[in-house]
Amino acid sequence: MSHIENHLTELPSWKKLIEHYAQIHKLNLRQLFKEDRDRVNRFTVKDLDIYFDYSKQRVMGDTMELLTQLANERGLKKKIEAMFSGEKINTTENRAVLHIALRAPKEKSILVDGQDVMPGVHHVLERMAAFSDKIRNGDWLGHTGKPIKNIINIGIGGSDLGPVMAYEALKHYAPDDMNFRFVSNIDGSDLAEAISGLKAEETLFIVASKTFTTLETMVNAQSAREWIVCEINDKEAVSKHFIAVSTNEDEVRKFGIDTENMFGFWDWVGGRYSMTSAIGISTMIAIGKENYYRLLSGFHEMDNHFLNTPFERNIPVIMGLLAVWNNNFLQSDTQAVLPYDNYLKRFPAYLQQLTMESNGKQVTQNGQRVNYQTGPVYWGEPGTNGQHSFYQLIHQGTKIIPCDFIGFKEPLNPWPLHHDYLIANIIAQGEALAFGKNREEVEQEGTEARLVNHKIFEGNRPSSTFILPKLTPENLGKLIAMYEHSVFVQGVIWDINPFDQMGVELGKVLAKTIIDEIQDSKKSLIHDDSTNALVNLFRKR
Ligand code: F6P
Repeated sequence: MSHIENHLTELPSWKKLIEHYAQIHKLNLRQLFKEDRDRVNRFTVKDLDIYFDYSKQRVMGDTMELLTQLANERGLKKKIEAMFSGEKINTTENRAVLHIALRAPKEKSILVDGQDVMPGVHHVLERMAAFSDKIRNGDWLGHTGKPIKNIINIGIGGSDLGPVMAYEALKHYAPDDMNFRFVSNIDGSDLAEAISGLKAEETLFIVASKTFTTLETMVNAQSAREWIVCEINDKEAVSKHFIAVSTNEDEVRKFGIDTENMFGFWDWVGGRYSMTSAIGISTMIAIGKENYYRLLSGFHEMDNHFLNTPFERNIPVIMGLLAVWNNNFLQSDTQAVLPYDNYLKRFPAYLQQLTMESNGKQVTQNGQRVNYQTGPVYWGEPGTNGQHSFYQLIHQGTKIIPCDFIGFKEPLNPWPLHHDYLIANIIAQGEALAFGKNREEVEQEGTEARLVNHKIFEGNRPSSTFILPKLTPENLGKLIAMYEHSVFVQGVIWDINPFDQMGVELGKVLAKTIIDEIQDSKKSLIHDDSTNALVNLFRKR
């Protein structure tokens, strides 16, 4: 992103938003709906088969106009175009940011350093498709001649969360006679549980790591290799039971994986934006290439929508601006994402990396300390489970937690009664949050006086509702791309770089020192007293 001259809080639209918030913050949703019978139409976008109702957010027409003015003052349109055209908008790492290229059609041309990246993207996709066909058809044989039935993806962060979320989300489309498991944690229990009950002869490991140097992934991959070699009793077995997904050919070779069995990607794909790169190979094996292409087409539709739709009807732009409004004006520190679909149970976890590794930043693009809040904490659980756990705080706690409700018109499994209840709940929760139950209503119910205060729901709690026809690969793609682009919009407004992650480095470096100290008790400890004592606990062991 190019240098932004104006500091956020100095922008005319920001100043106007402050005044506007002071004028309207006391208004509540009951009143807003009463006064404007057209509110739901004005604040609902219907596009790409998505019904996006943000009428229960605490905004008015003026709010949206000022937020749009803010986006314009920030040059959002130009910044979107810069990303789509391959400019090096990840300035700290001097890289282009082109996850959108991973799902663009073959005939498109996108240049990075004068080179068209699209032939490479489609070449890898074709190799992935041929490989996944081989596995699914039983044509890829393990070292002892048996077809592969078990796929274990070893990766962490973006090399795990996308694959595991997509597998869980699209499990309905996966064959019943194959197992898909995911290992990420350095805790040996993760690997132990993943291989438990499986035959090595029928198991293929995918070592997924952009850098191929990530400690957790490398340690897990080495142990998995030992397991294969030991179970099959032949060192040569590695070539039929390991493939790699990485940008680092040298390290893949050093690990002992034939680079013929490596699927590459590029430095312009960030880890948390990589699920449509070769990192998606476990997804493609699980759902088949046709469904995988449908997933990509959903992403691409949302990419086009983001690039081409005026801000007033642009779903990710509106979401991003609402996030800024809730974060910086309503001072909501967190954002809940509540999918009413059990297949989306890993979606909030996926979004945590996407949103917080992207926008958890404290300096502007120029390295100046910000004097405003940046990325909120994203969290969530599927409904209706969350209703019986943390919704109490969302309804009656002292914090304002904006909620995204996500639901589907049609279920994937034919239990219509369940679906009606599921849908009734998603609708009821948004209604309860927005309108609550006031004193008069509680009293009218004949509530004992001492309990009246306890039973009041203040309401006026903001939410958005997203309804899509069905959880298909296309619709999953649209949902993910929608959040990706919303994160970008927020980053542009806050003038931060959503595409690096320097904040994860310090802990990694310190862990390297500490592991040496734990393993070699002669090393002198030079940390603070608390850290030294903790290291000693493990040395004494
Ligand atoms: O440590 C954070 C991180 O770099 C993430 O950004 C990334 O998704 C993850 O680690 C895994 O990295 P890699 O794919 O290189 O193993």
